[in-house]
Amino acid sequence: METVLVTGAGGYIGSVLVGKLLDRGYAVRAVDRYFFGRDKLKRNENLSVTIDDSRKLTASHFDGVDHVIDLVAISNDPSAELFAEQTWAINHAGRVNTANLARKAGVKRYLLPSSASIYGYQDRLVDETSPTNPLTVYARANQRTEEDILPLASEAFVVTVLRQATVFGYSPRMRFDLAVNAMTYGCWKHARLPLMRDGKQYRPMLHIEDTTDLMLHLLKTDSNLINGEVFNVGSEANNFRLKDLARRIADVVSEKTGRDIAIEWYGDPDHRSYRLAFGKIESVLKWKAGRTVENGVVDIIDALEKGLIDKTPDTLTLEWYRNLTRWHEIIRTVEKYGGILDIQ
Ligand SMILES: NC(=O)c1ccc[n+]([C@@H]2O[C@H](COP(=O)([O-])OP(=O)(O)OC[C@H]3O[C@@H](n4cnc5c(N)ncnc54)[C@H](O)[C@@H]3O)[C@@H](O)[C@H]2O)c1
Repeated sequence: METVLVTGAGGYIGSVLVGKLLDRGYAVRAVDRYFFGRDKLKRNENLSVTIDDSRKLTASHFDGVDHVIDLVAISNDPSAELFAEQTWAINHAGRVNTANLARKAGVKRYLLPSSASIYGYQDRLVDETSPTNPLTVYARANQRTEEDILPLASEAFVVTVLRQATVFGYSPRMRFDLAVNAMTYGCWKHARLPLMRDGKQYRPMLHIEDTTDLMLHLLKTDSNLINGEVFNVGSEANNFRLKDLARRIADVVSEKTGRDIAIEWYGDPDHRSYRLAFGKIESVLKWKAGRTVENGVVDIIDALEKGLIDKTPDTLTLEWYRNLTRWHEIIRTVEKYGGILDIQ
């Protein structure tokens, strides 16, 4: 049985990925601070949960590990702007350290789940050879991480970078700060779809089941095809202008709920806009992200209707990190004798 160490394992992508790895017969070492809760991963005899900070990993964490999927990050633009220093430490320095430790420990494959946001603003279709244009701390940290980790690739240490499109779909650690998920929730709950101005910006989308399937695929693919390589991950069919995406989502929800959906504009015009080419992943790996936005929207509505998820503060990444840091300060000030009202 091979062992996969997953960082950020309790996150949006991690909590779907870990289940799939276990189902596929891998043992999983799930490393996370579990900022969004410790209840997202189902118990399993082949799952070992390590509650630790990715910046503090040492050689012993990698004993017996065959592969690393390094998901950990401050995972969106606004959180990274607010916690810029921490973002550089976690998303860049921490992951470079993890990759180095993994290489020294004899790990065979290392996957870096990066982001298509490193393309920033582009007025033409971009592939993996196009110049990048990172506009935010989050995007710049991803770019530097790619630059520092790709050269570690060797025959014994297979490194692959995935520039993922914006992900959507149901996860036990739900994120309602992602475009499709947020639009779906607004339509379902309030018959209003939040749309970031001016709606003309292009954004590629990617179903969570597709990106996690791909990660599994990459653990088995011929290493010559993927070593030291960068792949855009998504599909031409899911390259949207946000206003067209909004219409598609409104139509699905309207059909399901019988209500008319109104558009609710918000924010300043968004300068990030990019259309990605996916020819490389489709031709080299013969892999295609096949799920549609409609698939994701229906899954999210089902989970909402079953009460599996709701738009609670911990589903909004920035708000949750802000809350945690604010509460930490308050609790430190008022705690006495090991508690608040209950004391020891
Ligand atoms: N979700 C997307 O649309 C998307 C798109 C492109 C790239 N990505 C990348 O994929 C990865 C996973 O994204 P996600 O959506 O699952 O994000 P997420 O925020 O849901 O998960 C990140 C996880 O990392 C953990 N974490 C944060 N700092 C930590 C630290 N210092 N030590 C240990 N654990 C820590 C958090 O507790 C959380 O569980 C990230 O690298 C993100 O940048 C995501």
